[in-house]
Amino acid sequence: MSNNAHAADAGSDAQFGRSLRVGLFAIVVPVAVIAGLVGYVVSHTSPAAALNATSMPAAVAQRIEKVGTVTVQDNTPHVARTGEEVFKGSCTACHTAGALGSPKFGDAAAWAPRIATGYAALLQSALKGKNSMPAQGGGVYDEIEVGRAVVYMANAGGAKFAEPKAAAPVASSK
Ligand code: HEC
Repeated sequence: MSNNAHAADAGSDAQFGRSLRVGLFAIVVPVAVIAGLVGYVVSHTSPAAALNATSMPAAVAQRIEKVGTVTVQDNTPHVARTGEEVFKGSCTACHTAGALGSPKFGDAAAWAPRIATGYAALLQSALKGKNSMPAQGGGVYDEIEVGRAVVYMANAGGAKFAEPKAAAPVASSK
């Protein structure tokens, strides 16, 4: 019996060593994973982290990019976007499906009474927002870009507005 007990002791020593290693793994791995996740979340939410992330200029540029400007010309500093580009960048989020009660793109019946108020009124609504529609559709655009998007949408809904001229000095000089 004592022999057996000794063998069992030796066995449990080895076993203890094994479970110690397994135990360490069971702690180290989840801790590493959690630390990684926390790091990920922090680097994606903290403005300070964003500012410090100079090693990731692309990521920073993306973070401070205008909302909804996923177009080819994003990085060209001052080429005013076309109405279609602005539409695809922001307005489509609601107007393609008619979300939140917005006049649907191409729906002449929905647009007719609005078109009747005139381009200037529609432009003001688009620039400043109206009821559920945020100013500039939630994007940040030059007035001419919003104007072009209004014309693009209104004309698709039956209007015959002329595209606003680029000649008018644009507010932003940056
Ligand atoms: C978050 C959803 C949303 C987005 C994004 C959005 N709109 Fe709208 N839009 C609306 C809603 C809702 C209305 C209807 C507002 C009302 O009459 O109550 C509306 C109405 C309009 C009208 C008619 C305004 C009037 O006076 O009758 C114009 C013009 C317009 N949007 C232009 C735009 C343009 C241009 C963009 C993109 C730059 C855009 N919208 C993006 C929700 C949106």
